[in-house]
Amino acid sequence: MKAIVQTKYGSPEVLELHDIEKPTPKDDEVLIKVRASSINAAEWYGMTGLPIARLGKGLFKPKNTRLGADYSGIVEAVGKDRTDFKVGDEVFGARTGAYAEYVCVKNIIIPKPKNISFEEAASVPTAAITALQGLRDFGKIQAGQKVLINGASGGVGHFAIQIAKAFDTEVTAVCSTKNVEIARSFGADYVVDYAKENFTLSNKKYDLILDVSGTHSWSEYKRVLNPNANFVIVGAPKGTPVIGPLAHVIRVKVVSWRASQKVSFFIAKFNKEDMNLLKEMLETGKVKPFVEKVYPFEKIADAMRRFGQGHVQGKIVITM
Ligand SMILES: NC(=O)c1ccc[n+]([C@@H]2O[C@H](COP(=O)([O-])OP(=O)(O)OC[C@H]3O[C@@H](n4cnc5c(N)ncnc54)[C@H](OP(=O)(O)O)[C@@H]3O)[C@@H](O)[C@H]2O)c1
Repeated sequence: MKAIVQTKYGSPEVLELHDIEKPTPKDDEVLIKVRASSINAAEWYGMTGLPIARLGKGLFKPKNTRLGADYSGIVEAVGKDRTDFKVGDEVFGARTGAYAEYVCVKNIIIPKPKNISFEEAASVPTAAITALQGLRDFGKIQAGQKVLINGASGGVGHFAIQIAKAFDTEVTAVCSTKNVEIARSFGADYVVDYAKENFTLSNKKYDLILDVSGTHSWSEYKRVLNPNANFVIVGAPKGTPVIGPLAHVIRVKVVSWRASQKVSFFIAKFNKEDMNLLKEMLETGKVKPFVEKVYPFEKIADAMRRFGQGHVQGKIVITM
């Protein structure tokens, strides 16, 4: 089968399309013919080899040469212990090495909502579960709250707007001029164009800020947070050459340690319950993925380059 293989760190050119052995499902696994996958920051950092990321992935070259996590596809075979799926089922989920024609999956495999395409389904897992866990588990989101999403038009942000609306909150989205209309179309009640206005200088206060882009300092964010507010760090600018975006997280955590507001940083974790909740939200139309562009497998370097520019509308998807 064809798969993206990365034998060294670097720019998108390090991603090569190789012929490798097709996997065989174990008794408790399901073999999926992948139809689509999507790009997240994890793949970007895995590809470029940010020094701190190399501690886990390999100091000089990647130990695991495969990339990708999100997938959608069709069940091609099931292990003998699996009774929950059958050949031909349409599914989506997450599995390391999803930039491939086939993956074997044990855990994160969910029936694909019928009302969305394979491309849309593949855009959901990482970005939407991050938005959900950030708002609900760390942001403690409650109906009626005023929520601000900084970095609201990209992968995580566009799901966050819709999920925050599903929790019946008032949502302010922060994005660039070209994304103002699209942020409104995702359901934001108010949109701040960061090129024209600095939301941290306004008089409005928020109960929850989901900080996807990390573009302000703690003293600026604090000005617009209610005393008992939750501030959730999801992402950050590229940061220092050694620890990258973690520099921002450490800085904010250190300077906010005595604040009355609760400041959290988290790494999203896949689980079936949350994936099933997202499936329901997709089926009921509470959440609708937005895919800026679909690239064929062979053009993955172009897709990565586009993602690396940092201003994608919604998600970038790759089809196999
Ligand atoms: N903690 C976790 O588990 C987790 C999981 C997934 C991702 N992340 C992190 O989340 C971040 C975003 O990921 P993503 O996939 O959503 O990336 P993305 O699709 O590239 O989105 C980036 C967002 O940042 C916005 N942005 C850029 N400059 C900005 C500025 N000056 N002010 C406000 N917003 C600005 C962009 O809006 P415009 O295009 O309008 O400028 C866009 O909405 C990354 O740092 C990633 O590492 C964390």
